[in-house]
Amino acid sequence: MSRFFSSRFDALTPYTPGEQPQDRRYVKLNTNESPYPPSPGVSLAVAEESERLQLYSDPESRLLTNALAEHLGLDPSQVLVGNGSDEILNFAFMAFCDEDHPAVFPDISYGFYPVFATLNRIPYREIPLREDLSISVEDYITGEGTVVIANPNAPTGLSLPQKEIERLLADNPNRIVIVDEAYVAFGGESCLPLIDRYDNLLVVRTFSKSHSLAGARLGFAAGNSALIQDLNTLKYSTNPYNVNRMTSAAGIAALRENEYYVRNCSAIAKTRDQTAVQLRAMGFEVTDSVSNFLFARHPSVGGGELYRKLKERGVLVRHLSKDRIVSYVRITVGTPEQMDTLLRETKAILEEYQ
Ligand SMILES: Cc1ncc(COP(=O)(O)O)c(C=O)c1O
Repeated sequence: MSRFFSSRFDALTPYTPGEQPQDRRYVKLNTNESPYPPSPGVSLAVAEESERLQLYSDPESRLLTNALAEHLGLDPSQVLVGNGSDEILNFAFMAFCDEDHPAVFPDISYGFYPVFATLNRIPYREIPLREDLSISVEDYITGEGTVVIANPNAPTGLSLPQKEIERLLADNPNRIVIVDEAYVAFGGESCLPLIDRYDNLLVVRTFSKSHSLAGARLGFAAGNSALIQDLNTLKYSTNPYNVNRMTSAAGIAALRENEYYVRNCSAIAKTRDQTAVQLRAMGFEVTDSVSNFLFARHPSVGGGELYRKLKERGVLVRHLSKDRIVSYVRITVGTPEQMDTLLRETKAILEEYQ
């Protein structure tokens, strides 16, 4: 740290992204990316748009916003696109949390939530997951503040029914509920259909996982148009051209070829369920994930150790060192071939412990 770094950030511990190692080729199952490339129209659209890079992008991202709104059955005023859902979430923390509206989220969830809160000097309260790692809406229904829930949750992969979140929205009309649906396309139940009924609901989504565009950085918020206007105020106060030309073109092309992604998501869900069966047969305890990752632990080998041994064998998974989940690894669902490699290497490692 330099001697000039503002003391405003003394309490800030930045988010630690998953490794993106360049030293060798890994079977990369650590950052919940799609194992499948973008659809063919995406690279064509990006190449074509790259010829206009001397011009700023449209600050309103009109073409993309209109295409997305139509795809979701919403009005364009109910949607805001951003540079990944991380940017959108940061705007949402800035817009809807403060001293009087602390952020409230599960103790085990997306690691960026406490970072956004600290960065923006917002007080926050972490609510422990239940013993079985599930979120109970009961724990959020009374109290103050802005609720942030990842549904399905990460890294557990567990999800809440839409009805449960609706209960939270209906019982708390004066509190904003932000539902982060980064993984909803793999089997969760979306809250998007509730947007017209609840002006306190903000749904945040991403093209990173379901639409194979993690490297393009494209996410969005959907909600009541007044909430979207608030987010826009922050966007225009930080980065008006937040979605670049190539990403916009990629997003539009991806929506045009949406069927391809729907098929990929169901293939990933199928691979997930098959892998879970095999992990359980090897003695793993595996949560009932409806996401594009599995969360698993084995009685014979610790999470950290399994992560290290798999890495030595060329398979990267994620290990999170939080107390309650230190025994687990999070495994992104890859292609069936990648999962075969994971299972083979895991089996070889477990043999060392017998
Ligand atoms: C729960 C959750 N929300 C949001 C994000 C951010 O996604 P992106 O910024 O790529 O849209 C992630 C990324 O892993 C996530 O796990």
